[in-house]
Amino acid sequence: SAYDAGDHESYMHKEMLEQPVTAQAVLRGRLDERFGTAHLGGLDMDARDLRAVRRVKILGCGSAYYVGQMGAALIEELARIPADAEAASEFRYRDPVIEPDTLYVAVSQSGETIDTLLAVQEVRRKGGRCVGLVNVVGSAIARECDGGIYLHAGPEVAVASTKALTNMFLGFALLALQLGRVRDLSIADGKRLVAGLEKLPGQIEEILAGEDDLVAVAKSLAEARSLFFIGRVRGFPVAREGAQKFKEISYRHAEAYQTSELKHGPLALIDPEVPTVALVPRDELTERNIGALHEIDARQGPLVVITHAEVDLGEIGARRIDVPRNEPELDPILLTIPLQLLAYHAAQHLGHDIDKPRNLAKSVTVE
Ligand code: G6P
Repeated sequence: SAYDAGDHESYMHKEMLEQPVTAQAVLRGRLDERFGTAHLGGLDMDARDLRAVRRVKILGCGSAYYVGQMGAALIEELARIPADAEAASEFRYRDPVIEPDTLYVAVSQSGETIDTLLAVQEVRRKGGRCVGLVNVVGSAIARECDGGIYLHAGPEVAVASTKALTNMFLGFALLALQLGRVRDLSIADGKRLVAGLEKLPGQIEEILAGEDDLVAVAKSLAEARSLFFIGRVRGFPVAREGAQKFKEISYRHAEAYQTSELKHGPLALIDPEVPTVALVPRDELTERNIGALHEIDARQGPLVVITHAEVDLGEIGARRIDVPRNEPELDPILLTIPLQLLAYHAAQHLGHDIDKPRNLAKSVTVE
């Protein structure tokens, strides 16, 4: 067929390894080094329209919802516009207030997810503007939206999204950059982020090249009946996505928690049988995050820490996975890649059908 798994043992594996190339495709022709901004013609919004946006509401399901939370954080940080993401499957049931100066963003790989499509229709029926971040060209959601950003990830077959998810993040980064630059984001910051985005595909490749080193740790996680994924602020949606992937293909119970909330409940569950995968990038929260790792370590909770080489974990007994550093705003996507590999190799070790996990469909097109 035109698109098959080739020499790979599964589509998911092939799609993970394609990411350095597919990530370039979503950026191509959209970055402006000179003015430190992005050009997104498909949005069909001029600088005035973009400046009129007072709030951003992102709608998606599953992994698209979690990457929507990463996107909301990017928009709020770079453009200083209040932004949040909501599960599209809940949205229309609460008779949401649709505001004319809110920009609604529907995010979907397939463009056919019924819950996301119906959320878009709810927005448009009530007079709101909805743009799409969609992979499949000409899909139902793409057609229903007022404009959008195509993700150019190519066909994605495995139920667990990898390359499309990465391009969703990059699509949000482009949107955040453009929204920021028509407002108060400085040209210097714009250029810093453009340079960061240009570096990303190569850094994703670097992480994927370390795949073999992650197999043993993935196998040890696969042995646990239950595990936690923790992160804070930028890292929390990453933890949610990591737990989701792990659940979907390994069928192990994995729960995402804010690192800061651990002491308010789940710490009671930590013992030598319950591992924690912690996201600890080098940022303004590193020291606080390390404090939480001490709490886990003191209870003999096994720890896998996704971090940067500069971070000193001191005496903490942990298996560390270092990812390359980029601009802090762009860290989430680099932290996500090892979580894909961990979920993949855990499921592989358990002998599951990785591309078609039980009970799940690639896209859910009926209510
Ligand atoms: C299904 C899949 C998920 C996916 C979600 C949204 O539930 O199993 O992996 O994240 O749909 O799909 P979409 O095509 O809208 O991104």
